[in-house]
Parts: sequence; structure tokens; C-alpha cells
Amino acid sequence: MCHYILAIESSCDETAAAVLKDGFELKSSVIASQVDIHKEYGGIVPELASRHHLKDIGHVVKKALHQAKITPSELEAVCATQGPGLVGSLVIGFSFAKAMAVSLGIPFTGVNHVSAHLLSIFLEDSRPEFPFIGLVVSGGHTSLYRVESFMTAELIGHTRDDAAGEAFDKVSKLLGLGYPGGPQISQLAEKGNPDAFLFPKARLVDDPYGFSFSGLKTAVHTALSRLSGDEIQTRTPDICASFQKAVVEVLVSKTLHAAKNYGIMSVIAAGGVASNKALRNEMNMQGKANGIRAFFPSPAFCTDNAAMVAIAGYHQLNAGVTAKPEADVYSKMLC
Ligand code: KG4
Ligand code: ZN
Repeated sequence: MCHYILAIESSCDETAAAVLKDGFELKSSVIASQVDIHKEYGGIVPELASRHHLKDIGHVVKKALHQAKITPSELEAVCATQGPGLVGSLVIGFSFAKAMAVSLGIPFTGVNHVSAHLLSIFLEDSRPEFPFIGLVVSGGHTSLYRVESFMTAELIGHTRDDAAGEAFDKVSKLLGLGYPGGPQISQLAEKGNPDAFLFPKARLVDDPYGFSFSGLKTAVHTALSRLSGDEIQTRTPDICASFQKAVVEVLVSKTLHAAKNYGIMSVIAAGGVASNKALRNEMNMQGKANGIRAFFPSPAFCTDNAAMVAIAGYHQLNAGVTAKPEADVYSKMLC
């Protein structure tokens, strides 16, 4: 058992640190977002991300310890995201965490970012029993898992091309709404008609739990090319609502289909896109109609954070999984 664990997340454009007590009591969660820096370029610039992680990591960790009202000497373990993500970003948080663990003489473990998203639901009071079906929908991932325990999750499906969040970001760019696209599109979608445009929903009959969003992005592009500049202006809410409906329908139907086929009564959705209100409403509604309960982390724990890394790290350390001093980061999913 480990009393206080420090977790660090730096896989993409957020530098984050959190302190977790006894595996469930979150004492602090600090996030320095780089969104405003990358916004200017319409997407993440890896080189800039690394530099800002390096600039922010020290004070973010200091703040997390301060908010948790502990000193470094009270820590009993350290963990950090090891991958997947941007190597130049990962290496900053991972090395910082490893160095802290070595200097404090305490255990260290490397956490898989996607596993951390899957376990983010355990930061909430309302949580599912194992096993559950877990949908991870973020800027980099769209994957379905059968989650057996804190340490075991079987990948049952994933996207063949764009991730759902990536589709939101690309469509946002097409509409001139900026980066990241999810929050803007979902806000505008509230004022639009989801049935105004009929966008394709890739069902992939040969791959029941697989996803594909590149065709949808192309369909939005084609629809826009048929409209004048003024029409695009006035119809942007309708385009957002119709696009969002197409994404949500596929995500919800595949997740619930997996639950039904595996005879599992609980599903969770995690990752940045899981903060989407339409997705949450639809998953709740259709789940209920099928006797399946849907759980979601609060929006602050859907987007990248270190609290979820702490949960995953805590259970790894309890299972005796530690990282060697020479352990390195990885850019792609290992399984
Ligand atoms: O999990 P996350 O913070 O980072 C990754 O691991 O990728 O997810 C970021 C993604 C972005 O693509 C962003 O556009 C999307 O989550 N996102 C949303 C919403 N909020 C963030 N997508 C749809 N609706 C939202 N409300
Ligand atoms: Zn993420």
C-alpha cells in the first residue's frame, strides 16, 4: 500500500501533476495547458510542446505538492505517463518523475496514457463494477476495451484512420473555428439542426467494433464546397450539429453493441471527446433503453490530467509493477 503517490502527465499539450492518497483520495490536480500556444498554429507543434513542458514541469509539480499540503519527503512513490504520445513531450515528464523517484529513493512506474483514461472513472464516486466496456475517445485515440480489472483491459476495436477528436479538430479547421475543435463544435451544435445534413456513419460490417472517421471529414468538406461563403456562415451550426450526430451515433451504437455481445451491463466513455454533452446524453438514453448503465468522468478528468495517471500508477505499484532506471518512453500503443 502506498500512502501518497505523485503522478505526472506530459504526453501531449498539457503539463500536469497530481497527488493521490491511498489510491482514491485526490489531494491535488494541477494542469498547465498549452492550448493558447498551439491555437495560433491550428494544431500541436511538437517542438513547442516539448519546450513548454520543460518550462512548466517544475512549477506544476511544486504546485501539486503545495496544494496537497505535503513535502517531497512524504511521497512514497512516483509515476508518469510513459506513452503513447509525443516522444519529445513524454520524455520531459517521464525523466522528471524518474529523477524525483531516484533522488527520494522511492518506487517509480510508467503508465500507459490510454489505460489512465480508462481508469479515470475511478476518480468519481459513481463508478462501474468490473468488467465494463470502455470507450476511449480523444484527440489521438478511438478505442474500445473490455476492462477486466485495474490491470487488465482487452482491446476489442479501434479506429482505422482518424480519432474522433481528430475529426472534431479537422472539421473545426475546415469551418475556420480554430483548435481544438471539440468544444467549439459542440457549442455551435446546440443551436443547429442535427438532421440538416446527412453525413455518412461508417458501420464497417466486417469490423463490428472498429471505427473510421476520415470519410465523414471528407463529406463535410464536400458539403462545404457546395455552399457559398455566406451560406457557410449561416449554416455552420447545422453542419456542426449534423457532424456531431454522425460521430455520436457511431460511438454510441458500437459501444452498446459491444456491451450487449459480451453480456456486460456497464459502459464508460473517457478522453476529451467524452466530455461532449450529446455523446453523454445519447449513451445514457440508449443505454437505459437496453438495460446498460453508462458512466462518465467529470469533464475535467476527460481531458488530459495527471489524476488519472495516479490511479493507474497506484494499481500498478500495488501489483508490483515498477520501471527500471533505464526505462524509456514510447510513441505508439504497445498492444
Ligand atoms: O484526451 P484529450 O485531452 O487529449 C488526447 O489524449 O488526445 O482529448 C483532446 C480532444 C481534442 O481533439 C478535442 O477537440 C476533443 O478532445 N474534445 C471534444 C470536446 N472537448 C474536447 N470533442 C468533442 N466535444 C467536446 N466537448
Ligand atoms: Zn489523452
